[in-house]
Amino acid sequence: MQTVTTIAEIRSLVAAWRAAGRRVAFVPTMGNLHAGHIHLVTEARQRADRVVASIFVNPLQFGVNEDFSAYPRTLAADQEKLAAAGCDLLFAPTEQEMYPLGRDGLSYVEVPGLSDILCGAWRPGHFRGVATVVSKLFHIVQPDVALFGEKDYQQLLVIRLMVRDLDMPVEIIGVPTVRETDGLAMSSRNGYLAAGERQLATEIHATLQALAAEVRNGAHDYPALEAAAMRHLEQAGFRPDYVSVRRAEDLAVPQGGERRLVVLAAARLGATRLIDNLLIDIS
Ligand code: PAJ
Repeated sequence: MQTVTTIAEIRSLVAAWRAAGRRVAFVPTMGNLHAGHIHLVTEARQRADRVVASIFVNPLQFGVNEDFSAYPRTLAADQEKLAAAGCDLLFAPTEQEMYPLGRDGLSYVEVPGLSDILCGAWRPGHFRGVATVVSKLFHIVQPDVALFGEKDYQQLLVIRLMVRDLDMPVEIIGVPTVRETDGLAMSSRNGYLAAGERQLATEIHATLQALAAEVRNGAHDYPALEAAAMRHLEQAGFRPDYVSVRRAEDLAVPQGGERRLVVLAAARLGATRLIDNLLIDIS
């Protein structure tokens, strides 16, 4: 696997593949790769002739008091994992390469509405930072298809809407969440958890499962279910930002009769903010 750091290099390598008729898949990441990221690469391999990944800890999507400086940077280990998974090319730019004129006054991409609810309400500017960098990466790499995890469900929908609204010629594929054996969704941020917190962290998935089971069994009072789940997480030692049942298609508040829902949660455990979600099909 080749690693390049400049836009000029990645453009010319991908252009040569495309000129030869190859289909190119793209997996954007912030690195510190785990089995969830690698699953995206494996899925990408099934869908294209060439797989490109990127590693860039994007400062635009972190709030002022968030973990941009502390975010784990593990390039050598990541390169090994990507190569073993069959990734052909890694784009690992510097901040200077991505934002040569700095971050102030930068043109940006905003997906209104969807970016302002749930995680967007708790992390103002986060999804603008994500949409802007993903749009830049799409223009740089020019893939035929790009893969995103359902773990970050709201992010996946923001990207889908951006691509649709701005007619970006890339197919977006959502990939199911990869979990630890005890149910905890894999995340680079799990590494921040102390041993006791790590044990407790499984409670998010367990709480979502219990809530999803009630919904599948016909419970309709979603606000009451959400409030009970929030109380449960608080009693377990979390500081939950939200637990919410939404329409899977667009994260709207359900009006009744929906067949596909998603239940999402974000909760803090010590200094670590964890998110998770479960899709619910009502038959
Ligand atoms: P990052 O958190 O590194 O995640 C990169 C991709 O891996 C995202 O599509 C994310 O949803 C997916 N992913 C993370 N954990 C996963 C899991 N347990 N199972 C399946 N997929 C998982 O998301 C970002 O980076 C950034 O916001 C990015 C899109 C790269 C823009 O900067």
